[in-house]
Amino acid sequence: MTAQLNARGDVAVVVPAAGAGVRLGPGAPKALRLLEGEPLLVHAIRRTAAAPSVRMIVVAAPPAEVEAVHDLLAPVAPVIVVAGGAERQDSVAAALAVVPDDTGIVLVHDAARCLAPAELFERVAAAVRDGADAVIPTLPVVDTIKEVAADGTVLGTVDRSVLRAVQTPQGFRAGTLRAAHAAAADSHTDDAGAVEKLGRAVLCVPGSDFALKITRPIDLALATHLLRLDRTEP
Ligand code: CTP
Ligand code: MG
Repeated sequence: MTAQLNARGDVAVVVPAAGAGVRLGPGAPKALRLLEGEPLLVHAIRRTAAAPSVRMIVVAAPPAEVEAVHDLLAPVAPVIVVAGGAERQDSVAAALAVVPDDTGIVLVHDAARCLAPAELFERVAAAVRDGADAVIPTLPVVDTIKEVAADGTVLGTVDRSVLRAVQTPQGFRAGTLRAAHAAAADSHTDDAGAVEKLGRAVLCVPGSDFALKITRPIDLALATHLLRLDRTEP
């Protein structure tokens, strides 16, 4: 395999990056939008490749951008680039299809969470290595959450202490993720959700504020600030 990073790594990372970024507003596909002068995908892959456990990275790019993404990432890290699909799940499946069968651990990481630090990849991979079938990084929910009827009437207050906000990278035994994808009927289920549907346990590990997902313009502003903080760290 030519697109290899750390030969001693036991992890393949699948990076869905084929979305349009509709909620970010008009412009290029989201993964190619700029944050402090560099595409989100470049930030994401730089951090992914810095994780010592990572042996290979497969990016699912917008179909029209496969070659451009390959050229863009060549100076950053050795990666394989495939064409993504209509839904995120299709993009993950396309990338997973080129991960070699002898890979033990697969992480799935949204390009949109482009500041997720290398340590987070290591934490998730370590939990899979320690025996978990599926691992998700999570943060406590800070807002009060209400259940609300269609007419705006509050139906009740949800117990926030049992809720978690879920990030990526999410980690899996490769066989578990492949089985979950093969069985997934609902295209809106996330990867860990598909594993839950198989009846397998999913384990939470602490997430990172830096792994926020860039979805709306305000997230770009926040990420710009976080990136500057990151650069001032020793
Ligand atoms: N993604 C993908 N293929 C798709 C849709 C999404 O690979 N068909 C990827 C995105 O590129 C992103 C991740 O899945 O890295 C999370 O999706 P999201 O944040 O929803 O990104 P977009 O779909 O691009 O944004 P939007 O929903 O606002 O259009
Ligand atoms: Mg989307």
